[in-house]
Amino acid sequence: MREGQTSVIHRSDYQEPAFWIDSVDLCFDLDPAKTRVLNKMKMRRNPHVVPQALRLDGEELNLSRVLVNGQGTSFKMEDSQLVLENLPAGNDVFELEIFTTCAPAKNTKLSGLYTSGDSFYTQCEAEGFRRITYFLDRPDVMASYTVLLRADKSKYPVLLSNGNLVEQGTLDDGRHFAKWVDPFKKPSYLFALVAGQLVAREQRITSRAGKEHLLQVYVRPGDLDKTEHAMNSLMASVAWDEARFGLSLDLERFMIVATSDFNMGAMENKGLNIFNSKYVLANQATATDTDFGNIESVVGHEYFHNWTGNRITCRDWFQLSLKEGLTVFRDQEFSMDLASEASARAVKRIEDVRVLRTAQFPEDAGPMAHPIRPDQYLEINNFYTVTVYEKGAEVVRMQQTMVASGPSDPLGREGFRKGMDLYFQRHDGSAVTCDDFTQAIADANPDSKLAQLLPQFKRWYSQAGTPRVKAVGSFDGASGTYSLTLSQSCAPTPGQAVKEPFVIPISLGLISADGSEVASSMHVLTQESETLTFTGLQAEPVPSILRGFSAPVILDFAYTDEQLLALLEHDTDPFNRWEAGQRLALNRMMAFISQDALAVADMKLDARYIEAMRSVLRHPKLDAAFKELALTLPSETYVAEQLDVVDPQRIHAVREALRAQLATALHADWEWAFEAHHENGAYKPDSLSSGRRALTGLALAMLCIAARTSGDTVWPGKALQRFKDAGNMTDRFNALAALVTSGSDLAAQALQRFHAMFKDEALVIDKWFALQAGATDRGGNILPIVKQLMTHPDFSMRNPNRARSVIFSYCSANPGAFHRADAAGYVFWSDKVIELDAINPQVAARLARALDRWKKLAEPMRSAAREAIARVAAKPDLSNDTREVVTRALS
Ligand code: ARG
Ligand code: ZN
Repeated sequence: MREGQTSVIHRSDYQEPAFWIDSVDLCFDLDPAKTRVLNKMKMRRNPHVVPQALRLDGEELNLSRVLVNGQGTSFKMEDSQLVLENLPAGNDVFELEIFTTCAPAKNTKLSGLYTSGDSFYTQCEAEGFRRITYFLDRPDVMASYTVLLRADKSKYPVLLSNGNLVEQGTLDDGRHFAKWVDPFKKPSYLFALVAGQLVAREQRITSRAGKEHLLQVYVRPGDLDKTEHAMNSLMASVAWDEARFGLSLDLERFMIVATSDFNMGAMENKGLNIFNSKYVLANQATATDTDFGNIESVVGHEYFHNWTGNRITCRDWFQLSLKEGLTVFRDQEFSMDLASEASARAVKRIEDVRVLRTAQFPEDAGPMAHPIRPDQYLEINNFYTVTVYEKGAEVVRMQQTMVASGPSDPLGREGFRKGMDLYFQRHDGSAVTCDDFTQAIADANPDSKLAQLLPQFKRWYSQAGTPRVKAVGSFDGASGTYSLTLSQSCAPTPGQAVKEPFVIPISLGLISADGSEVASSMHVLTQESETLTFTGLQAEPVPSILRGFSAPVILDFAYTDEQLLALLEHDTDPFNRWEAGQRLALNRMMAFISQDALAVADMKLDARYIEAMRSVLRHPKLDAAFKELALTLPSETYVAEQLDVVDPQRIHAVREALRAQLATALHADWEWAFEAHHENGAYKPDSLSSGRRALTGLALAMLCIAARTSGDTVWPGKALQRFKDAGNMTDRFNALAALVTSGSDLAAQALQRFHAMFKDEALVIDKWFALQAGATDRGGNILPIVKQLMTHPDFSMRNPNRARSVIFSYCSANPGAFHRADAAGYVFWSDKVIELDAINPQVAARLARALDRWKKLAEPMRSAAREAIARVAAKPDLSNDTREVVTRALS
């Protein structure tokens, strides 16, 4: 039988809790089969709420005792809540003592207290604490925690919880204990404990403010040689938050712990962050440059939560973007500031926008569309989304942009800093709403555009959907006037038929025929339609609109090839320079896709496009990382979003064909790029050298792809050699991927060798699985490969990273292979969703999202997909998580 609520929760139903919990005293006797938890709380009634029964949340707990002020009391159970009706009247503090047990080793949901290997970990956000003890498991109930951990000393030598270690010692029977006190009040979702055989890299630091702190990164013995980068990232995070926001570390000790079983990326528990090992462990032999970059940003993200999330938290889960959107914005800025060179900042911006457009835009256009501050949910875990996170970060970024005060603060950084200062002045130590945040930013900048437009700006929090901005230019030669009409619209989303106009900051530039910039400005679009005029122009300029992607919108402008080529060559804004190249490619892909009768062999790229790409590749000034981005064709998912009816195999075939032509037509240039950029010196993960590796990786892949057409054996041979000799994982994996992607005969032996080399490195084996499940489909061969991989001794459905590496890499990241006319991909998907749902609903519900966009599919895929979703939905006993996703998909 399922436990917990099964009905939808609404934001508008928020009420203060009827009781407050001042302090919690927890005592754990840790045992994988049966852990005993004694929870003593000091509680009182909330005087603002009418007297009522106390209802404590609980899930999969065995209750053995309840005492009020030391006395037995009557209680009842209602929908898995523990209900106490006979509590003392009045507003005095009383003590509630609850004794329960739970079974961490059986906890395959990885929410609450669970075991991974031989250690204990917790994950409490959003509602995992109720799986540890009965509690008011909601973020606006903030309490002081004291935690006593007891466990077998030889099996669990390390015992950690939030805050400071105040006492430790030995007990009878080979057991020991540790007592932790967290000096800060916190909501239950920030509670954590870890127990096991772990070792730590340690670093003592002195903050700007002169305080001493101990930083620790805990991992399994044997993994210490993979912790240096995480520690460096943590030190950089501490320094950055002090420098940019004046926010210092408020704890004597700050710990990061890595676990290989984790549902998400990482968790910001106060003073004891718990991470998916994927975002901690790295050295040059096992991790790619992408891994290094991800570790830097996730370590930063969790550390920055200490202020934006922990010191000021969310009043309720509808406010999730208050901490997540803001903290993603902060981690993006952190990575950009660390990248220092302007070009590397731009590369990071392009990468972030690419994520937004390929993952968030489809979400915003599909059945799960929701505002960054949702109005309802069945299961909150389904709302840890790219919308709440990445679109939420864009909404914070726009607020920074809109408090810019002219030349002295063009980007709005200073104004935004003032707003953040006021936010902390007003709300430190409390649980607040998104409205409180925007109000603080606006109030600190009373003369800003943001303050003037605040009520309308807030529509970004309440309206779902991606706005579309249509721009039309016209030039009047006689008066030298260029007018640009900007109109906005937003398609309906589930539950929101009509949208009111948004506030859209649009960064603009005009480029003249000779390539010089003749105007640049920031325009804030507030009406449905507005016309801007620019005077004193000699000739029709090319508009560079939405520079730096200044707002999360779709920009429609009927650019000609000439205009795009001009922007690609001359735009001073690197984002739009990249975007011009993407538009050139997209226009061609769309044209080929739409000509139904056109055979793939007859899709010929024009010389103009090829020459433009050649000049980007050979450009003396552009750096390698930018070139790699510019020479990569728009993804299949992004192309699919531009179409009303989607045939994923057609998109795949077109993209493959164009890529092969770029490979062949630029053969000599790819050779040059490979030779000119590959380096044999010591590995450094900085942005310049990682950019060079990215470009050599692309060049090698293109050369292997070209070899497939020409029959050349030299480049595949070189790729194999490089795979064998590589001094780091980036080069090694790129070489392996080049062989696999191009379908080379040498791929099989390289894959085998790769597995043998890294059989004891779980994170590398994940890459090995993912590469094969995500490989180019050739005649429907990938699904059988995926099924085969799932019988491999290293495969496990229970480990989320491993399940994702095979199943998600196929269903979510390999559209050309997944969307089969025979529906076998969908049947596989429904089997796996159902199978995973019984083990881990959060992971299952993510997989369920792979068919979000089924309504756009061409027949017969569309009907087959609906049938597969209906099959999942028909399963009785589905978790709330998966049920919510499939129900919305079918509605
Ligand atoms: N707060 C975490 C982070 O973004 C994510 C936790 C998500 N957990 C979940 N069960 N949905 O850093
Ligand atoms: Zn977060």
